[in-house]
Amino acid sequence: MSFLSSERACLEKEDPEIAGLFAKEAKRLQDGLELIASENVASPAVLAALSSVFSNKYAEGYPGKRYYGGCEWVDPAEEMARSRLKRLFGAAAANVQPHSGAQANQSVFLAALQAGDRILGMNLSHGGHLTHGFKLNASGKLYDAAFYGVDEVTGQIDFNRVREAARQHQPQLIIAGASAYPRQIDFKTFREIADEVGAKLLVDMAHIAGLVAAGVHQSPVPHAQFVTSTTHKTLRGPRGGVVLADEEHGVAIDRAVFPGIQGGPLMHVIAAKAVAFGEALKPEFRDHAVQVVNNAKALAAALVDSGVHLVSGGTDNHLLLIDLRQSSFSGQEIEDRLAQVGLTVNKNTVPGETRSAMVTSGVRIGTPAITTRGLVEEHMKPLAGVISDCIADVEGWQERGRKMVAELCSSLPLYDGVFGSKGYAWNGQNNI
Ligand SMILES: Cc1ncc(COP(=O)(O)O)c(C=O)c1O
Repeated sequence: MSFLSSERACLEKEDPEIAGLFAKEAKRLQDGLELIASENVASPAVLAALSSVFSNKYAEGYPGKRYYGGCEWVDPAEEMARSRLKRLFGAAAANVQPHSGAQANQSVFLAALQAGDRILGMNLSHGGHLTHGFKLNASGKLYDAAFYGVDEVTGQIDFNRVREAARQHQPQLIIAGASAYPRQIDFKTFREIADEVGAKLLVDMAHIAGLVAAGVHQSPVPHAQFVTSTTHKTLRGPRGGVVLADEEHGVAIDRAVFPGIQGGPLMHVIAAKAVAFGEALKPEFRDHAVQVVNNAKALAAALVDSGVHLVSGGTDNHLLLIDLRQSSFSGQEIEDRLAQVGLTVNKNTVPGETRSAMVTSGVRIGTPAITTRGLVEEHMKPLAGVISDCIADVEGWQERGRKMVAELCSSLPLYDGVFGSKGYAWNGQNNI
């Protein structure tokens, strides 16, 4: 019996209620296609590290400088995570302790700013993230937040407007990076603008980190003083955050993460991050990232051919944003309708949004998880057909959708053996 299956058997005996929820979630994952752009499917090796004895360990501080004894085995794991991460992105300094992407961003604010300083980030309703200055988030309460947006016609960042906003607001920190932006981001120009107004540059590459690691998106590392990321999106690791910094700011980031905003690091998550970074360093991960982008482009092209409107008309990365402003359905309605046939997506605001964030006029679709599962370009046309028929309310779309999803899910199984009993047959392993 493997380590994971013996733990599972123990949980089933000790707490069948929680074990039952895991079984239901495993079935949901197996029976549907995950199209949420910020999600992915971590490997069994990453899950094994998460489910390890490292969860027990307190290790406040950093390797070799801890406030607790007994750190001799967690120290090398954190060193490995740090050095693999630096190698993956060619960074001078790295911190692998942030519990999440939000914490990673908060640590940069603490390292780079004084309370009340001005930050300039991307407008939330144009694709930015709430930790980039939203009024209800700590970033918007503790700092004076100003915003730049995309051009509402092209759906793309207009650097003349970013420059204008930077000159007008004179921020101490400019934030580049987004949660729902389907195009390449030009980090070099962001740095030029930051230098021009005497600001530092933070690039939050949470969404595109896996693409950057694989060299299929421009890297922010040579251009920004600070780069933050989550580890669970295109990077395909455990849930968590990281910060990269240039030579000058590495020590300030370490102090900001601990003792600045966090206590004990989650050593099991840090070990799982090390495993994921090791996977991303393999040449096969590059092939996977190329496929993620190829799938997104194929899906976007097929949707456009079927008359669906996309913000910016297409994609350069792993996600696309459907603009429903000319449709009779809202983002929430399309999210609910696609769920009926086993397609999981999320509603999203679009530039120029008129509905509330709980309803929206857009839907965000991403290809990381379905690519890990094994879907390739040839699967994108039928998938686009179901989505466009759903939006146009074409008779019989549900039956066609359910049939397509059932066939794909049975031919490309996920996690057999981690949750089932057939031994590891994780499809994603074919791709990493
Ligand atoms: C660009 C960006 N930054 C930060 C975060 C926050 O990450 P977390 O949910 O791990 O706090 C997200 C999450 O979606 C994101 O898209």
